[in-house]
Amino acid sequence: MEEMKRAWWKECVVYQIYPRSFADSNGDGLGDLNGITAHLDYLKELGVDVIWVSPFYASPNYDNGYDISDYRAIMKEFGTMEDFDRMLAGIHARGMKLVIDLVVNHSSSEHPWFIESRKGKDSPYRDYYIWRDGKEDGPPNNWGSCFSGSAWEKDEESGQYYLHLFTPQQPDLNWANPAVRQAVYDMMTWWCEKGIDGFRMDVIGMIGKENFNDGPVAPGALYGDFAPSCQHTATTHRYLREMREKVLDHYDLLTVGETSGTTDNALVYAGEDGKELNMVFGFEHNDGLNDGTELGKWSDHGAPLREVRSVLNRWQMALQGKAWNTVYLGNHDQPRQVSRYGNDSELFRALSAKMLATLIHTLRGTPYVYQGEELGMTNIYFTDISQYQDVENHNAWRQWVETGRVDAQDMLRYFARISRDNARTPMQWNTEKNAGFTTGTPWLPVNRNYLLINAEDERKDPNSVFHYYRKLIALRHTHDVIVYGTFSPLLEDSDTVYAYERKLGNQTLTVALNWTEKKVPCTLMDGLEGQELISNYPTHQPGFLQPYEARVILTES
Ligand code: GLC
Ligand code: CA
Repeated sequence: MEEMKRAWWKECVVYQIYPRSFADSNGDGLGDLNGITAHLDYLKELGVDVIWVSPFYASPNYDNGYDISDYRAIMKEFGTMEDFDRMLAGIHARGMKLVIDLVVNHSSSEHPWFIESRKGKDSPYRDYYIWRDGKEDGPPNNWGSCFSGSAWEKDEESGQYYLHLFTPQQPDLNWANPAVRQAVYDMMTWWCEKGIDGFRMDVIGMIGKENFNDGPVAPGALYGDFAPSCQHTATTHRYLREMREKVLDHYDLLTVGETSGTTDNALVYAGEDGKELNMVFGFEHNDGLNDGTELGKWSDHGAPLREVRSVLNRWQMALQGKAWNTVYLGNHDQPRQVSRYGNDSELFRALSAKMLATLIHTLRGTPYVYQGEELGMTNIYFTDISQYQDVENHNAWRQWVETGRVDAQDMLRYFARISRDNARTPMQWNTEKNAGFTTGTPWLPVNRNYLLINAEDERKDPNSVFHYYRKLIALRHTHDVIVYGTFSPLLEDSDTVYAYERKLGNQTLTVALNWTEKKVPCTLMDGLEGQELISNYPTHQPGFLQPYEARVILTES
């Protein structure tokens, strides 16, 4: 296979910060921009190249900042534009780059555009959003929102409905209106001129609404699926190509789309011909693994090796040589990866966190590390609905539990396994009060395991998950085969071992990962004469892999 074109965004490691939960500099219990700036040396020590910061713009926070009321202002709880400028300068001074979140499928209902739009059918901003007349005595069509309930909200004043694929406080912008598109491009250019280095584009695959037909209703579901009309449409691709021409092509940026979808979709968004985005996030290995019941993501379904591997390998193979991939297991919308894919018991937590890290950093694609993952942070396992903050949980609770459709204990079990709040508990910095996150009351409780899992202790311990991440990140910077090597799966029939090869020139990287807590037979690494680049065990057993053992061997021919 031909060698791919080099690019800095292929060679980098991205670290995601969820600012609300990273570090609080002023004791109000919420993380903020100065908190990030205060910890840039930590990120430099870890060795990451790019920092993606989740939304920090003015917002009423119905969805923790993914509902933006002013795209050019900083959320007052997070600081000021001067704080932002200082953070960006600090990132650049350390040779790192900043990717910001672009949330333009929808704005906040408190954005001046929507406030104007809502004033009536004659408002000059009416067409900035998607307004439709209802049918008989109901909404314009049967679509459900991603966060439960109808995707349409009736506005009593005009009698019309507006579309919100997320909460009613997140009305969808009308991308069919050229004025909306131009306003978004101007805003993006404004941030580029400030010196940012890229965009992570929130649910960008939904911007082009092709039609407003009723969607298919899955058995037992309460609403129709909007995807056939709103996901990955030709219209969306047209807008992205326009965005590319008007903004992206004028700068040297990292662009990553949160698109979900299939490998075929990814090939269009992120094809090597480079007409749209650098890369996209697929969801098939996380949200896609649920049971596919009417409850959507809410289920007991775990992450067995066969299912996870078959999705990840399929993405590796389909994109190889044609489109660039992302590699991630966790983010602010997913539970903690060690709890979901690994094993967060005291005995196996660090071992399995390192095994999963090995996977993320040696598959082909740009690796994304979510804050705290580099420490092996775990789910918090709330037991009561009152402990959750996330609107997604409360809406699901209202729709399924309060109406008697689902048993409360079942739902709480699903939530504990998969709620987004699991990944949003405060970063665990040290053994001080509130894990050093805040001197005040944290907005979401700190996980009680912070005395065992925290940055300060792990930095001192050469065997920690933190130092394992450091080593993996450094390897990417010194071994081209990790970035550009081709991928071929190995042992695809194994129920216990995830294995593959990466090849570049005369070099071969062989990776073997034991996905289980048992010692399992595996002869793949026996007799490989080469250099062991990394492993989570100091010694090996010929013929076997130890519980959660990860091995990476570089050979030359
Ligand atoms: C994306 C974000 C998520 C948010 C949603 C609506 O999926 O990652 O946090 O709730 O879009 O903006
Ligand atoms: Ca604060």
